[in-house]
Amino acid sequence: MALLQKLPTKLIPRKLTRLRYKSLVLIETFDRPAYAYALFQAAMQACALNHDKISIIEFGVAGGNGIVALEEYADAITRFTGMEFEIYGFDTATGLPELQGYKDIMHQWQSGFFPMDFDKLQSKLKKAKLVIGNVTDTIKDFYTKYSPAPVGAIMFDVDLYSSTKASLQIFNTNSENLLPRVRCYFDDVSGNEISLSNEYMGEKLAISEYNTQSADRKITPVYHLQAKSRRKKWYPRSFVHHMYDHPRYCEFIAKPMQDSPLS
Ligand SMILES: C[S@@+](CC[C@H](N)C(=O)[O-])C[C@H]1O[C@@H](n2cnc3c(N)ncnc32)[C@H](O)[C@@H]1O
Repeated sequence: MALLQKLPTKLIPRKLTRLRYKSLVLIETFDRPAYAYALFQAAMQACALNHDKISIIEFGVAGGNGIVALEEYADAITRFTGMEFEIYGFDTATGLPELQGYKDIMHQWQSGFFPMDFDKLQSKLKKAKLVIGNVTDTIKDFYTKYSPAPVGAIMFDVDLYSSTKASLQIFNTNSENLLPRVRCYFDDVSGNEISLSNEYMGEKLAISEYNTQSADRKITPVYHLQAKSRRKKWYPRSFVHHMYDHPRYCEFIAKPMQDSPLS
């Protein structure tokens, strides 16, 4: 059963093909298959649209295991696609900010949970940039301050409704800053026995409120993952931000010339 054991990110094979990487994701060989999947799919779309660089964001970094894994997956994907990545991690560095009521799931979370050891993390990071401060503030000038490559995938893991709502402002920008379809991962939509998370609080509420704001920008589940016979924990947490009015949304990116001859 060696193949089913988790593959420490440092041991990702140096020589990978698209097919091999995809199969490693699907059998959950990576520590964080949802992250590995989102990056790969973002890169595939970016390749099809002839981009050479995209940005990846993690909202909620804490100790940094997630962002370190993102760097490793990005490196692996660069090796077999040539796609380059910029990686950004948003965090207060001091842990969860003040909670603002039941929608922030106060029966599960408390201010100060998940502080970051900034120096330790910074010394481990190869290229990711840490955007430190409350996301409510740091999101405002992110695009002007960093001029990032178009955003292709975002990991949302700030736990609270109020912080997720603030993070979703990342989509409040013009089309040059976003791929037409941005891969998203929402870590807390399913919740657990304590949170009993639902559509009236937490990440789910932030998503549904976002979806009422514009007819052209919607966050939807990745339905085909949910239709698979063997369900994985991360499938219902995988989403896509669709920018239907993106000038490149309708560009054809599937296999050319498909047919279904009469047998
Ligand atoms: C569960 S931890 C993230 C874990 C990390 N994604 C991982 O996989 O290792 C949640 C993080 O979100 C951050 N956070 C929550 N609300 C925030 C806000 N409004 N602004 C910035 N960071 C916030 C906290 O500081 C905390 O480190």
